Amino acid sequence: MKMTAAVTHEKGKLSIETVEIDATKASEVLVRIIASGVCHTDSAGMEQIIPVALPAIFGHEGVGIVEEVGIGVEGLKKGDRVILTFPSCGTCRFCVEGKPYACEHLNELFFNGTYKDGTKRVHQNGQDISSFFGQGAFAEYVIVDARNAVKVDVADEDLVYLCSLGCGVQTGAGSVLNRLKPEPGSSLVVFGCGGVGMAALMAAKIAGCSTIIGVDVVPSRLELALEVGATHVVNGKEVDAVQEIIRLTNGGANYSIECSGIPALTLQALSCLCRGGTCVVASVTGEAVVGIPIEPLLMNKSATLAGLTEGGANPQVFIPKLVQFYKEGKLPVDKLVKFYDFKDIEKAFHDSHAGVTIKPILRF
Ligand SMILES: NC(=O)c1ccc[n+]([C@@H]2O[C@H](COP(=O)([O-])OP(=O)(O)OC[C@H]3O[C@@H](n4cnc5c(N)ncnc54)[C@H](O)[C@@H]3O)[C@@H](O)[C@H]2O)c1
Ligand SMILES: [Zn+2]
Ligand SMILES: [Zn+2]
Repeated sequence: MKMTAAVTHEKGKLSIETVEIDATKASEVLVRIIASGVCHTDSAGMEQIIPVALPAIFGHEGVGIVEEVGIGVEGLKKGDRVILTFPSCGTCRFCVEGKPYACEHLNELFFNGTYKDGTKRVHQNGQDISSFFGQGAFAEYVIVDARNAVKVDVADEDLVYLCSLGCGVQTGAGSVLNRLKPEPGSSLVVFGCGGVGMAALMAAKIAGCSTIIGVDVVPSRLELALEVGATHVVNGKEVDAVQEIIRLTNGGANYSIECSGIPALTLQALSCLCRGGTCVVASVTGEAVVGIPIEPLLMNKSATLAGLTEGGANPQVFIPKLVQFYKEGKLPVDKLVKFYDFKDIEKAFHDSHAGVTIKPILRF
């Protein structure tokens, strides 16, 4: 079938073109995309910081309507509304344990542009095109493995706001609710109040943290952070963030999450902890953080530094919970969103990089 997609042939560029998409194979579904979020990991692929084979279709926060169901798919039918999420193999030890975020095949399924059988589903003039995250949602249609399509009971006018539940929001909220599991009354700090960080702030409020601190350098983001869950905000450009957090928490925070992607902030996120605290790195920094003083910051303080993919989520379980939080008004992700027509995809990327828009969403 012919469809329109934003295709990247050369590093850093994309253009809207006509391509050919296959029929579904076993265990796959064809989904008509109604909206697609722009995540920073798309830029990392497009800029070849992550070396995805080109040509490629990026986009991994699609939502839409199931159009066709492959052999062996259970639990999904034509017409179902779905939030698409990250791929996992379903058969490795970690997938079987319900930890698809730690799938042994994660790197190849996220970044090779191929599906589980090693082949691609989109073509143009006889050439295969990569689908980022086994999805490639900057397109009218996608084929995904049924594991990556989460059926939700949401009207289309709400569904378009929920794209980033598939990646960015799942990452931020999951870091809190699945990994840190903060006790009510504890303190939690979020470094970087973008899409991932804002979701972490919302989740900290849901978890009942009593001191929730958002750190950023953009005043408008700090204002929004206070609206969505932060009890305090710190402008890292104006004050020494670590000293300020230690002051606000009377000696250091129980938990911190690095969501800025700035390597040096991992050190701050570790330094602001109290004894026994835990820091989760949720961002993709692309650079090594050197000079972490292991003894004073980790060993002596009995502190933990952890990494986490996709918020430690099992999406088929976690995304419906997030949808419920949204319906109850506890996860106001609509406040992060600005809509763009699909044809304005370059502007959406530009506004995301410029810090103008937290979560650009393309509409089809
Ligand atoms: N672990 C995962 O599975 C996963 C999933 C999705 C995204 N990510 C990564 O998470 C990171 C955050 O994504 P996002 O979409 O929220 O990005 P974003 O750009 O929207 O957010 C980053 C925020 O950091 C702030 N910032 C910049 N410099 C700062 C400083 N010196 N001090 C404090 N704040 C500063 C920016 O103003 C911005 O608000 C990215 O690295 C992205 O690639 C990881
Ligand atoms: Zn697996
Ligand atoms: Zn993402």
